[in-house]
Amino acid sequence: MAKAKAKQERPTPPKKAATKAGDRRADAQPRPAPAVPGAALGIDIGGTGVKAALVDVTTGELLSRRHRVNTPKPSSPDAVIEAVLHVVGLIAAERDLAPDLPVGVGIPGPIKAGKVMTAANIDKRWIGTPAEELLGKALKRRVHAINDADAAGLAEIRFGAGREVAGTVLMLTLGTGIGSGLFVDGQLVPNTEMGHLEWKGRDVELRLSGVAREKRHLRWRAWANEFSAFLARLEILFWPDLIILGGGVSKEMKKYDKWLKSRAPIKPARFLNTSGIVGAAIYASERARAESARPVVLLPVATRADRAAAPGVGRARKA
Ligand code: BGC
Repeated sequence: MAKAKAKQERPTPPKKAATKAGDRRADAQPRPAPAVPGAALGIDIGGTGVKAALVDVTTGELLSRRHRVNTPKPSSPDAVIEAVLHVVGLIAAERDLAPDLPVGVGIPGPIKAGKVMTAANIDKRWIGTPAEELLGKALKRRVHAINDADAAGLAEIRFGAGREVAGTVLMLTLGTGIGSGLFVDGQLVPNTEMGHLEWKGRDVELRLSGVAREKRHLRWRAWANEFSAFLARLEILFWPDLIILGGGVSKEMKKYDKWLKSRAPIKPARFLNTSGIVGAAIYASERARAESARPVVLLPVATRADRAAAPGVGRARKA
């Protein structure tokens, strides 16, 4: 990935590391700033960019710059993992990354037991790829994978437009595809994939995503009318109490919100180009906490005969 061009956004300079007296050579590299408690690494693999930052999961704020490289073409798992290593390397140069730092990665496909199940907007070789395992090996850390729209929704639910909203919240991300994140009283219902509902004979994301709107040369008014009709169908199925719009299209909401219609209120996402990163980091930290909190169950001490009959009995194991 040496050639990958890193685009650094939100240039909040990292705090300067203290320089030891003996270290004052003109060419001395600044040392990364020390690790922060409550931090997690968030990585967002998208159809156009691979982005990452260190995140304060107690506030949703970034603790490092947001680093981005273009998604490699073709976006095979190997090439994308190289890109991930590159952006994580840029963060590591800025901030100490503790060995037990939770690492979350958002991926544009449903994730079951750490594996990517479909790949509509990324190379087909991702289908069936054990993403958590491969990225974990490459980064030499425990990695937790989550669908990208579920991650974006989690950021909004914990710290953004969906914070403390009771009932059913539906997050829709409108970018290359349409992603969905469904939450009931703050709990995620994972992998809802509403972008693949049929709409006028095709997957709705092929007609109404941000990219599809441009391809179809739809003006905002026409797009908003058709999108409102699609929202009406979603409302019949899920009866959300709040709809949050994210992705590129949500940045332009002023241009079309007068034509949007829905029963539930619609709000733009608070996190724009950082929602996937922040949500992936929150997910990893919540999963890591749940894994470490799982009680150790001591099974009854077994005799040699018991063990021969049922190997594993009598040993401590995670519940
Ligand atoms: C994928 C979803 C993803 C969405 C947005 C869809 O094509 O199937 O998993 O969330 O694109 O990236």
